[in-house]
Amino acid sequence: MNKILLLTSDLNLKALVNLVLQYNFDIEIINKKSAATASDYVRKNHADIKCIIADEHFPAGGATKMAKETTAVESTIPVIALMDPFGKGSISKDQIVFSKVTKDTILEKLVEVVGEVCIKKTSQILQDEKHVPMKLELLLELDSVGQDCYIRLNEQKYVKILNKKEYFSKEDFDKYSAKGVIYFYVKLDDVDELLESFSGNLNTMLDLSMFSRPESLNKIRSKFSDEEDGAILDSIVDALNKADKNKLSYDEASHISSQSLSLIRKANHKFAQGSEVQNIAKATVLLSLSTISQAPELNNMFEKAVSSEDTYLNDHSVLLGSICCQIAGLLGWHSKLTHYKLMMAAMLHDITLDNSKLSRYRGVPDLMLDADQFNEGEIKSFLSHTERGKELIQSFRMIPPDTDLIISQHHERPDGTGFPLKINFSKISPLGSVFIVAHDLVSFIMSREKAEENKQKKTEWNMVSFLNQHRFLYQNGVFKDIFNVMWKHMVNKS
Ligand SMILES: [Fe+2]
Ligand SMILES: [Fe+2]
Repeated sequence: MNKILLLTSDLNLKALVNLVLQYNFDIEIINKKSAATASDYVRKNHADIKCIIADEHFPAGGATKMAKETTAVESTIPVIALMDPFGKGSISKDQIVFSKVTKDTILEKLVEVVGEVCIKKTSQILQDEKHVPMKLELLLELDSVGQDCYIRLNEQKYVKILNKKEYFSKEDFDKYSAKGVIYFYVKLDDVDELLESFSGNLNTMLDLSMFSRPESLNKIRSKFSDEEDGAILDSIVDALNKADKNKLSYDEASHISSQSLSLIRKANHKFAQGSEVQNIAKATVLLSLSTISQAPELNNMFEKAVSSEDTYLNDHSVLLGSICCQIAGLLGWHSKLTHYKLMMAAMLHDITLDNSKLSRYRGVPDLMLDADQFNEGEIKSFLSHTERGKELIQSFRMIPPDTDLIISQHHERPDGTGFPLKINFSKISPLGSVFIVAHDLVSFIMSREKAEENKQKKTEWNMVSFLNQHRFLYQNGVFKDIFNVMWKHMVNKS
């Protein structure tokens, strides 16, 4: 079978290009993440390669290196360069590339360009196949594709392995790989929708990366006349520059993110529905995501729970983002898009509360015990903050799907006793479930200080006691899976 070599370390780009090509051409795609492994592949297999599609930016200079490699092996394999839409560097005219395609035009342009060197599938072939294959490893890397997924038993028989709303775990992957499954399939009827969502994901991540560019924050700098606010914006820009050079620490990112949340709350009052809130929110999410791999182990998070009454809302939101990503990781969900959804939801889930002290309460019953500390307006604001948080995120441009759902479900409970919808585990989304468990853990970790103030020392403040307290609540669905992986993680650590 003809082969196309794809070089990119950008997962969303890889997913989109794979689907576009598998849908239109009868080819095998060889995916490589680094220029070194791609070059090695070219040297050994150049006779079989129909064309090379290479990202020029991730890894840096990828397409340029591939063009040089083909020259070195004296091959005429065409190299198609995939370029960032906002002009970070360019390929000089004397570079031998067959064609350049900008990443935001892949859906329209790539088939045309590849069609010059590969023969397109006829519509009859497509109709006969009824399904489009993609490598199973891609499903693992993506966590979820938002469409029903199948494996093929024989020419006619396909079996569904994943519902559109479900997430694929490492355990699932291992199970199917052990049976020799290499491809998963999506139905031909679902392909258009899937292409839209893959290209949406790619553009969503490109949009987010725009906020690592200081210009996007400097543009709104003049709107913050208050010296302190301006200083926070400057420190976000500095931190993003440091992150770019891998010089930002987890603690520093957490500290600046926490300050940034105060600014977001202020900006939300001052410029409702303006671009200021989302610009700062996206920059803050990027900042927190940039150091996520340095976050302390879940067990050591107990040491991180230092907060004052005034900064509880900010501090618990930042800690929550980090814990959400760690729990998702334990489930085998590692994609940047998944982390983006969880981090953005964590930053904004309580931002619309009128009184930040309300962010300590998990439900209506525990708020009612302290009802005399709040006025009627504040209590109403608590009851509506999930809905208002959802509306805020929906007003943003290019936010990954389901982020609004995580925010709107964050006070639901697995047993249906939460609010506002009183839905139970069966209706709470997979990421919503991760978020609720992470939020319970953050509340547990941070309640230690309150308990110590009140001289209650009966509880052991560690993961085992948290899990034991929640064992009967997390009995079903994704909650059960989360409980199991956290328990296993604890056992493996002890
Ligand atoms: Fe909340
Ligand atoms: Fe919260």
